[in-house]
Amino acid sequence: MKRFVLLDTAEIPDNGGALCLFEYGDDFVIKLEGGKGGQLMNSRMHGSEDALAELPCKRIASRPQPRVLIGGLGMGFTLAAALKTLGENAEVLVAELVPGVIEWNRGALGEKAGYPLRDTRTKVINDDVAAVLSAEPAGFDAIMLDIDNGPEGLTQQANGWLYSAAGLNACARALRPKGVLAVWSASADRQFSARLGKAGFKAEEVQVFAHGNKGTRHTIWIAERRGG
Ligand SMILES: C[S@@+](CC[C@H](N)C(=O)[O-])C[C@H]1O[C@@H](n2cnc3c(N)ncnc32)[C@H](O)[C@@H]1O
Repeated sequence: MKRFVLLDTAEIPDNGGALCLFEYGDDFVIKLEGGKGGQLMNSRMHGSEDALAELPCKRIASRPQPRVLIGGLGMGFTLAAALKTLGENAEVLVAELVPGVIEWNRGALGEKAGYPLRDTRTKVINDDVAAVLSAEPAGFDAIMLDIDNGPEGLTQQANGWLYSAAGLNACARALRPKGVLAVWSASADRQFSARLGKAGFKAEEVQVFAHGNKGTRHTIWIAERRGG
C-alpha cells in the first residue's frame, strides 16, 4: 500500500511556516506543514500547470527574443511547458520564494518535469516574484503566476498584494506592449476578472482539467495588456 514518506522540510522566509516534500509511491507531493491548504502540488497532476505556460507562451513565441517570468517554481511543470513552447532565443526567469524548493528541483524531484532548471534558457532567482516584476518595468513578454491557491483562499497572506489592484497594476507595468499575464487559480472568481479589466487587461477566464480530460478543473486567466 502507498504511504506518504516525508523526505524534507523547507522553511518559508518571513512566514514562520514550512513546506514539506513527501514521496508517495512513484510520485512526489508538496504540502504546507501542519496540513493548512491540503496538497499544494502532486507530481501526478499537472495539466493546468502546463496550460498556465502553454496558453500565454504560444501568443508571444514568435517575438524575436521572448523574455518571460514565472512565479513560483513548485515542481517545475510550468517552467518545463514554457521551455517546450518557446524557441531557442527565449529567456525564462523563475522567481521562487523558498530556497529548499529550488534544491528539491535540482535533486530527485526534478526528474518529474525533466530537470528544466538545467536548460540554458532558464534563470532561477530566489526571491518574491512581486519584487522581481516590480524591479523590471517593461521587462517581460509574459508573466505566469502560480504562487498560491489563487486570488481567494490564500495560504500566505503576503501573497494577497499580487492579486490586488496595486499588484495587477505592477504586473501591467512589468509587461512589454501587448504582453500577456497568466494567473492560475484553484477556483473561478468573477471579482478578479473585473479587477484585471480595471488594471488595463483584456482578460479571458478559462477552465482547464487538473489531469487528463475529466474530473477537477482549475481556472486560468489569460490577460493581454491593452494599448501600445
Ligand atoms: C503551487 S506551486 C507552483 C507550481 C508550479 N506551477 C509547477 O508547475 O509545479 C507554488 C510555488 O510558489 C512558491 N511561492 C509562493 N509564494 C511566492 C512568491 N511570493 N514569490 C515566488 N514564489 C512563491 C511556493 O514556494 C511554491 O514553490
